[in-house]
Amino acid sequence: MSKSNVPSKVIAELKRQINHELAAAHGYLALSIWCERQTCKGFARFFAKQAGEEREHAEKMIKHLVDRGLPAELEAVPAPRQNFSSLLEVAQHAQAMELTNTQGINSVYEAALASKDYPAQVLMHWFINEQVEEEAWAAEMVDRVKGATCAGSLTDLDRHIEKLLAGDES
Ligand code: FEO
Repeated sequence: MSKSNVPSKVIAELKRQINHELAAAHGYLALSIWCERQTCKGFARFFAKQAGEEREHAEKMIKHLVDRGLPAELEAVPAPRQNFSSLLEVAQHAQAMELTNTQGINSVYEAALASKDYPAQVLMHWFINEQVEEEAWAAEMVDRVKGATCAGSLTDLDRHIEKLLAGDES
């Protein structure tokens, strides 16, 4: 294995963010379970898929460290929030997670910029773009849940939420 030339601040930031992405995967799995138990199967599927994407985000950063000769050690993932009183609270929690995640991504990028670590800068461009998408669907989800004011409209929203957030339906 080649000797690493990754700046220590970038290593620390990537390790922190890897843990954060895995915690987000755990968080989305918890939202999926909550929705499944409320018979919101569309939301449950959406959040389960999101959990998988967060894991892929972590894996992308892990591969970056490993490719650059580092072990990418994993840390303990904290228990996610699991109690919610409404679907709106769930959607708002998802949005809060994404906003926090954007801060984490930006923080990695700032470390890569400050230490002139060009490979990490390029890696983080993908994540910066991704967060624009993630914040957009989270905001749309909150708006749509707020707009579903009766049981019938919530059932209808649940049936269509995956396609709506993917931009397949208007
Ligand atoms: Fe890994 Fe939801 O961003």
